[in-house]
Amino acid sequence: MLILTAKDIEKCYTMKAAIAADKQALKIYTQGNSDVPLRINFDMQKGQCLFMPAHIKGSDIVGIKIVSVFPNNPKLGKPSVPAQVLMLDPQTGEVCAMLDGTFVTQLRTGAVQGAATDLLARKDASRAVLIGTGGQAVSQLEAMLTVRPLTDVAIFDIDFQKAKQFTIDMKHHFSHFSTNLYFSQNLDEEISQADIITSVTTSKVVTFNGDKVKPGTHINGIGAYTPHMHEIPEVIVKNANIRVLDTKEGVLAEAGDIIDPIKQKLVSKNDFLELGDLVQNPMLCRQNDQQITLFKTVGTAVLDVYIGYDIYLKAKEKGIGTYL
Ligand SMILES: NC(=O)c1ccc[n+]([C@@H]2O[C@H](COP(=O)([O-])OP(=O)(O)OC[C@H]3O[C@@H](n4cnc5c(N)ncnc54)[C@H](O)[C@@H]3O)[C@@H](O)[C@H]2O)c1
Repeated sequence: MLILTAKDIEKCYTMKAAIAADKQALKIYTQGNSDVPLRINFDMQKGQCLFMPAHIKGSDIVGIKIVSVFPNNPKLGKPSVPAQVLMLDPQTGEVCAMLDGTFVTQLRTGAVQGAATDLLARKDASRAVLIGTGGQAVSQLEAMLTVRPLTDVAIFDIDFQKAKQFTIDMKHHFSHFSTNLYFSQNLDEEISQADIITSVTTSKVVTFNGDKVKPGTHINGIGAYTPHMHEIPEVIVKNANIRVLDTKEGVLAEAGDIIDPIKQKLVSKNDFLELGDLVQNPMLCRQNDQQITLFKTVGTAVLDVYIGYDIYLKAKEKGIGTYL
């Protein structure tokens, strides 16, 4: 069994590869060529364990992400949300790889936004706004920088200190992109100039003023994952010209910012496409520079498992990782 840490994965796998893998994974999903059973949750005395398997038919890629939520772990010097992705060998059914699940989640979540931004944002998009500077934010920023040659990215968080430090760190980390990354407190002004907006927060309420969004903007909602969470303003869900979800099944069951406008009959379920539809048929992507486009994701095990196997193959090819 090959053990792959976050550092190992960084050495052998790029955001560009992750974006291509996510596009392929969601195309397979939308075509009905994967099995994704419902997540299994076990409540334990000190936390909760979640099991998320997926099977890609045809290529017989099978794997599972195991995520545990144990709030007291930090007192023991351990992460509160440990996660692993286990991959099985299609020939023997044996576990062939164990990958750092936290890093795989960050990578595939950034990449799915990158895939959507690539397919939906204006080709000449130059200014972006990143709202939220937590654990998912680095890969979200990297994905936007990867798919468009941005001149400026404004970085915002309700925690100004955190956003300031994140900006300093990212200027260093992503200096090779030569994009002007800057901390901003004036979100309304940034939103009114943005070509791409990515919100990746734990907020229960909308994170920006939808009335400030200009025609032609592409918006990504990454955070809200329960029916009580709303990150994307209703006016955007209602007025967007193209609305795309990673999976209809997941988003329409989990994301409050999409569920509520449907309940209020501002939009209907039929007004949403899946990202896999766009990968199969580029005619469904943006038609002109004035359209507002929206992408919402809550994640799916297909992404973890498809990308997990792709990383495993690349690591094996390059001789990276440790065999157990
Ligand atoms: N779509 C997916 O597949 C997927 C995958 C992983 C995580 N997520 C979700 O993404 C979200 C972010 O994850 P994370 O690990 O970065 O969380 P985190 O807790 O590390 O960081 C969240 C950040 O959001 C900021 N924030 C909260 N409310 C805000 C607001 N109103 N305006 C601006 N900033 C605000 C916080 O200050 C914090 O810095 C979570 O909701 C998580 O569940 C989604």
